[in-house]
Amino acid sequence: MSNIGSYEEKYKGFDWSFARKELGCKDSTPLNIGFYCSDRICQQGKGGKIAMIWEGYKGEVEKFTFDDLRIYSNNYAHLLKSFGIKERERVFIFMERVPDLYFSFLGILKMGGIVAPLFSAFGEESLLTRLEDGNASAIITIPKLIKKIRRIKDQLPQLKKIIIVTDDENFKSEEKETSFSAKKAKRVEKFDIFPGTFETPSVLHYTSGTTGKPKGALHVHSSIFAQYLTTKWCLDLKPDDIYWCTADPGWVTGTSYGIIGPWSLGITQVVLDSGFQVGKWYNLIQKHRITVWYSAPTAIRLLMKEGEEIVKKYDLSSLRHLCSVGEPLNAEAVTWSKKVYGLPFHDTYWQTETGAIVISNYPGMEVRPGSMGKPFPGIVATVLDSSYNPINKTGSAGLIALKPGWPSMFRNYWNNPATYDSKFKNGWYITGDRASIDKNGYFWFVGRDDDVINTAGHLVSPFEVESALLEHPAVAESAAIGKPDPINLEVVKVFVALKSGFEKSDDLELEIMNFIRKRLSPLAMPQEIEFVDSLPKTRSGKIMRRLLRAQERGEPIGDLSTLEND
Ligand code: WTA
Repeated sequence: MSNIGSYEEKYKGFDWSFARKELGCKDSTPLNIGFYCSDRICQQGKGGKIAMIWEGYKGEVEKFTFDDLRIYSNNYAHLLKSFGIKERERVFIFMERVPDLYFSFLGILKMGGIVAPLFSAFGEESLLTRLEDGNASAIITIPKLIKKIRRIKDQLPQLKKIIIVTDDENFKSEEKETSFSAKKAKRVEKFDIFPGTFETPSVLHYTSGTTGKPKGALHVHSSIFAQYLTTKWCLDLKPDDIYWCTADPGWVTGTSYGIIGPWSLGITQVVLDSGFQVGKWYNLIQKHRITVWYSAPTAIRLLMKEGEEIVKKYDLSSLRHLCSVGEPLNAEAVTWSKKVYGLPFHDTYWQTETGAIVISNYPGMEVRPGSMGKPFPGIVATVLDSSYNPINKTGSAGLIALKPGWPSMFRNYWNNPATYDSKFKNGWYITGDRASIDKNGYFWFVGRDDDVINTAGHLVSPFEVESALLEHPAVAESAAIGKPDPINLEVVKVFVALKSGFEKSDDLELEIMNFIRKRLSPLAMPQEIEFVDSLPKTRSGKIMRRLLRAQERGEPIGDLSTLEND
């Protein structure tokens, strides 16, 4: 029997106070995610239970109990306070998936700080825009990544401390830096956890839009109610499960479902500090007897490419439930996984802004391959026409919109309330995605309604790529689009017009690619550069990315006069 039981019954008459009660949280109880993910589990007598089975890229394994989580997060909370970091100040984490990433995430929350995770693959420019916008008070990082921070720290006058996680006593710290290891530090048995309210800010996740700088979606501590219940009902986690979320905490899936959801339920999870590699992944499942697996379509397509034969070499019989997020999950991937693993991947849909799953396929409910499923209990979802009115015709595509009010909804964009306000129309939150709804209430994803590029589940802003390209001496102007890709859904392709005096060449192409990789990240690096004499523009001078995208996909270009008026 699945945790959710009957979806229809749970949807009817649902109230979020249900999740609050399950967590033992009253209106008047101080709320802190850090407490609910560690101390509370220990108070339930499960302090000795394994919280994290960590495997490094060399295959080394370390295990940590819930009591370890409690102590090590206390250590971080205490350390930050000792540096004078106050509640609501932004503490960024910039690490690979080392254990201290997880301890410090909870520690920052415990002392009332706002935790802002960053991808370890970010280049200096990506880092600087986020650290500047979020007014970082502190950064927690690792020796391998410190060079990137050292190169930009002079541009961050408000930065008080850089904490470098290392056991190496001879590590040479520079100005503002402190080296630290939670495991070696004096154990802080008791820490006065910051008594948050439902609306106390918790996590700041940067996400990319079409225009402007990356936006920091701000969440609050009561997001835990939605993260807890969606983990329980969509991922179906039960006390004896060994759970594996493949996402990096630089991405919202890695925090909502790689930290908060599973640990608020007291579940053991596996963390793998390395990227995709077929043998490594299957071996991990076999070795740790993983039961529930949350991954993404690009990874599933890579596994499909490796074929069925390799699957037979491993014992994957521990698996019992599979879920996916981040991109449209093609029907073939669902059918394939059913055939090869004996289990279908269950698609789940959500965004950084929604904080938790909002549309999903549930265990026990028929999976329609290719569909995202149905709205989670407590979520009212529909599709709207271009005037933001609900489309009451089944099968017609429109904008996916949600009725505001679920606990994990973002509360603002950091420093950008105007953009936040622009996301709400006629009393609906507009996701920026398009879908249709069939006669049985299943949602079918159609595409994004903007120019944001989704590469392997990671959103890349064309604006960020174009802005970075302008800094290259040879580039006069450019346009970045998503080019369809059989594995990654889309890859970044750029059209570049060169300044006079520069000639196109293979060397220049490579140089520009590397330029973006270093400044932004490997994900934002163009996989293809097309040199052009000029770019198509609207009458107001805006580059017509949509036209370039349609040409690239061999789609009809549409009415150029409307494009020109954009
Ligand atoms: C896309 C990731 C199709 C969508 C949790 C959304 C999906 C964006 C799905 C959010 C899905 C996410 N099917 N598309 N199941 N899940 N997306 O903010 O465009 O990194 O708006 O959050 O990914 O990406 P974000």
